Formats: sequence, structure tokens, C-alpha cells
Amino acid sequence: VKRGAGIPDATPRRIRKVGVVGAGLMATQLATLFLRRLEVPLVITDVDCERVGEAVAAIRADLEKQAAKGRIGEGKARFLGSIVTGAEGTEAYSGCDLVIEAVFEEIAVKQQVFGALEAIVPDECLLVSNTSSLSVTAMGAGLRRPERVVGMHFFNPVAVLPLVELVRTRATDDVTLATAWDVTKKLGKRGVLVADAPAFVVNRLLTRQSSVLMQALEHGNTIEETDEAALRIGIPMPPSALLAMVGPRVANHVLHTLHDAYPDRFPLSPTLESFADGEMEIVRTGDGRRSVDEIHLAILE
Ligand code: 3HC
Repeated sequence: VKRGAGIPDATPRRIRKVGVVGAGLMATQLATLFLRRLEVPLVITDVDCERVGEAVAAIRADLEKQAAKGRIGEGKARFLGSIVTGAEGTEAYSGCDLVIEAVFEEIAVKQQVFGALEAIVPDECLLVSNTSSLSVTAMGAGLRRPERVVGMHFFNPVAVLPLVELVRTRATDDVTLATAWDVTKKLGKRGVLVADAPAFVVNRLLTRQSSVLMQALEHGNTIEETDEAALRIGIPMPPSALLAMVGPRVANHVLHTLHDAYPDRFPLSPTLESFADGEMEIVRTGDGRRSVDEIHLAILE
């Protein structure tokens, strides 16, 4: 198998059981992808038990829809029965070979999750973060075995977007990175190694994009005008729809992380702050998923 640039030539570990910590939007999409592609038992928990119930219902609905369309076989659908749920930090994770966290974007919360997991999972288990912007190295600091911590940053919608940013910390060992690369491939995605720097690569680009959208609004442009301009140069999704999909709170959080690291290059945005606080809302009339072709067609007509 041809390795990507920077991926060590180590033998990847076998993944026979996966854990997902958190049951929010990204965690639910990740759980669905892991179940579909790896076909192994999966554990998913959250501090909020209700959210776990909703996540499992969403996973079930998605897998059943895919099975009905003939995209996954009955054999895969049976893995629905192997979803284990529970309260966060429980013994349910014992025996996992890989646990990915997608919990609240707060470094202390992530450190606490990894610290609790370390007491439960086997020594060889990968501890993976799907953080949008935080330091993965910092997440492993203080752990007994920081060498098995690695970042795998997925993009929404996870089922469709092929990229995974792979983040090697200063401590990540070769086998951990080679395993993360191998898992990425088995999930049908393309891994790209990125530096463990604030917001990695893609969220830096997207933060610029949302900053430009905010500035355009401040200068008196409408959302429709900025969206149309963006679509007509080939950006795949209207910037306002992207912001609504990612969530203004998450986008603003990424901006704050970048601002803390580079105050001059990433100024805070009072407009984004208002969206994040819920003082302003993005109201769209369309479904926000028109393709560029459809836009051209609409203009031609
Ligand atoms: N979930 C599942 N599947 C979806 C989907 C969704 N939300 N949206 C679209 N799809 C599927 C459709 O079902 C369709 O599948 P099919 O061909 O098998 O029927 C396929 O994707 C194409 O759908 P559309 O015809 O609607 O395609 P579009 O051309 O409108 O593209 C898009 C949709 C792929 C979402 C595209 O608009 C896009 O790439 N948008 C940019 C998204 C982006 O930048 N995401 C990154 C966000 S940042 C992030 O997640 C990081 C975090 O840290 C903040």
C-alpha cells in the first residue's frame, strides 16, 4: 500500500472494536461511518443520555436507508445490534482498539476524557481526537502513554467529504500514525498529514471565508449577494449555508482559537459573535444545497 507523505512504514494495528465519545452532530456521523466501513462493534456514550438515544436513532435510520438502497448489505445492517451505549467514561470502552472523541471543544474537557479512558482501554488502544482547532499535543500532555494520541479531523457532511486531516503530536509514535492512516483508508477517506497548529489547515481557510462573509455583511452586502458571488467562482456551498451547517458557535470558537494564537491575522468579529450568541440568525429561504450547475441553470432560464 502506497503511504501518504510523512506516514511511517510501520505495521498498522488491527481495529476490532471502536469507541466514540460524545453523541453530538459530528460524533453521530462518525459512528455511522465507522459502523458502515469497519463493520466492528461500536460503543457510543455522552454525558447526556437523551442525546445518545437520539444519536442511535439517527445511526439506525441512516443505515436502514442505505440498506434499503442496496448500498450496504444485510450483513452490515446487523452491526446495528452491536452498538453499545452508556454514560460517558464507563467500562463500556474496555477492549476498544480505537476511541475517537468528539466532545465539547474545551481542552480541559478533552484531557479529562482521555485521562478517564486511559484507565479503561488496553495499552495499545489509539486515543483519537476530532477537534476542529485545539492542540492535540496538549490533549496528550499528562497522560501515561501520550504516544497513542493522534488527531483525525473529519468534515461535515462526514458521509460525503473525503478529507481527514491527520495530526501527529510531538509524542505520537509511528504505529499510531500508521494505524490512523490505515483506518482513514478503510473508511474510504483520504488522509493528509497536517501540523499540530491552531485550526490545522482547512479550518484556517474556512475561518477566512466566514470572516470575509461577515465583513461583506458589515459593508452592506446581503447574504444572497455574497452567496451568489461565492457560488459563481465555484465554492461548493453558499458561505452562509456552510456557516449554518457548521454552526456559528463552532465557527466563532475556531476564530477565537486562531485569534488567541495570531491576534493580528485573525481579528475577532462582532458580527460572528452576534450569530454565535443567537442575537442574529441566518435565515435562508432555499435548502442551501443548490449546486453550481443549478445556479447557472436558474440564471440561464
Ligand atoms: N449528509 C449525507 N449526505 C449528503 C449530505 C449530508 N448532509 N449532503 C449531501 N449529501 C449527499 C447527497 O445525498 C448526494 O449523494 P448521492 O449522490 O449518493 O445521492 C451527494 O452528497 C451530493 O449531494 P448534492 O447533489 O446535494 O450535492 P452538492 O453538489 O450540493 O454538494 C456538499 C453537497 C457535498 C455538501 C457540498 O455542498 C460541499 O462540499 N459543501 C462544502 C461542505 C464543507 O466545506 N464542509 C466542511 C465544513 S467544516 C467542518 O466540518 C470542520 C469542523 O471542524 C468545523
